[in-house]
Amino acid sequence: MRQAHLPTGRALAIYRIGDKFYATDDKCTHGEVSLTEEGSFDGCIVECSYHFGSFDVTTGAPVAMPCEVALRTYPVRVENGVVHVEV
Ligand code: FES
Repeated sequence: MRQAHLPTGRALAIYRIGDKFYATDDKCTHGEVSLTEEGSFDGCIVECSYHFGSFDVTTGAPVAMPCEVALRTYPVRVENGVVHVEV
């Protein structure tokens, strides 16, 4: 996973799973924590290191407590090897 920023400054997390890419907000919905800087990514799950809540990055859905609010997700397309996120 990698962090990217919108022109507004909002941080996104970009994930690669096989040959597919996914994008979510970078901030954990449980606290002010960057998932790309403080979390770990395995399979399709990103885990926040602060309280070990986690999310399915393909849907944004929380899959482990204490996270209850979904991450915002963004459509991603790849053109000529460049990842584009639609916001
Ligand atoms: Fe991420 Fe609590 S701040 S799980």
